[in-house]
Amino acid sequence: MTEIDLARVRAETRGCEDVIHFNNAGASLPPMQVADHLYAYLRDEEVKGGYETADMRRDELEHFYVAVARLLNAAPEEIAFVENATRAWDMAFYAFPLQPGDRILTTVAEYGSNLIAYLQQARKTGAELVVVPNDAHGQIDLDQLEALIDERVKLISISHIPTGGGLVNPAAEVGRIARKHGIPYLLDACQSAGQVPLDVEQLGCDMLSVTGRKYLRGPRGTGFLYVRKNWIERLEPPLLDQHAADLIDGEKFVIRPDARRFENWERFFAGQAALGTAVDYAMEIGLEAIQERVFALAATLRAGMAEIPDIRVTDEGAVKCGIVTFQHDRLGCRDVKVALGQQGINVSTSSGPGMKLSYMARGLEAGLVRASVHYYNSEPELERFLSVLRTL
Ligand SMILES: Cc1ncc(COP(=O)(O)O)c(C=O)c1O
Repeated sequence: MTEIDLARVRAETRGCEDVIHFNNAGASLPPMQVADHLYAYLRDEEVKGGYETADMRRDELEHFYVAVARLLNAAPEEIAFVENATRAWDMAFYAFPLQPGDRILTTVAEYGSNLIAYLQQARKTGAELVVVPNDAHGQIDLDQLEALIDERVKLISISHIPTGGGLVNPAAEVGRIARKHGIPYLLDACQSAGQVPLDVEQLGCDMLSVTGRKYLRGPRGTGFLYVRKNWIERLEPPLLDQHAADLIDGEKFVIRPDARRFENWERFFAGQAALGTAVDYAMEIGLEAIQERVFALAATLRAGMAEIPDIRVTDEGAVKCGIVTFQHDRLGCRDVKVALGQQGINVSTSSGPGMKLSYMARGLEAGLVRASVHYYNSEPELERFLSVLRTL
């Protein structure tokens, strides 16, 4: 594992000159290679035409599938470009045929939009949502997961790194249980892609959804879905267009055999090409090195915050990632965000629906401040953040 060249990655991140960006779980600052690719593509669309640019840059658009497949240890035919993680996940989830009495197993820390989809499908089909309890670390309890498995369970679906905190669910262990019992496994890797290595063989997942703008440092309005080869043709997308399916005559259509059946024809082409560059950039730096630095920076931040009397860090997990969440004893999360923003530090807040079940169970519905670091953040930035926090 080669160490990250901090000076280089900061020089290649123009935003580092202007802000201390601890909102990488919201949207990261892109490397200049990604931003410049996007601008060049859009410039071509402006002066040459959108269709003509897509023809001219066909190789870059195709490269996106190759790059993502390499990131995940998958095949390019198993990748679909989708505009965000939610829709990517939806295209897989809503394709699942569910019957009355079928069960979906999920976690306490599940993402709000996913929870809405489970509840909607449960209402429509008579299937049942079962939330697997947490273990003592706040992650999915693997023994309870296995104990809940019976012939009614038709899907296991969890978030790898949930939206509001440092938690990393043991996704590969869940995959081993899913495989052992022959149950399909949908993994929401929205916040883990670009932060930790993802290998679909090791994870044992059959479907995986990702967004471009977070730890992958791609453009907003981009994402992708992975579907394992043997599942693609068993999943009929909830929505089809003439890119996803071929119209044979006035009465018949055939859905394409690869994962692009989950795509739209019209999409953010410039974003697709630039997301390919973002994935290449992450791969070049190395996901193991990225994980090591991101987790270490966050650990330093948590240790520093533990020394500040008014701050209470709320992260769970046996292993903690780059997302640090906390509450201030006297100030609301929005006030803290504004105060930090006035000092040139970007953070976000997390409240309400994002992780409803978890926040309700832990009495955190007032909301949290979320400071999420990336490998291009520096140690002096952490110190500055802590010193501003001390003055609030
Ligand atoms: C765990 C998780 N899943 C899904 C999403 C949704 O991603 P997107 O906004 O790209 O649809 C988020 C966004 O914060 C998330 O944290």
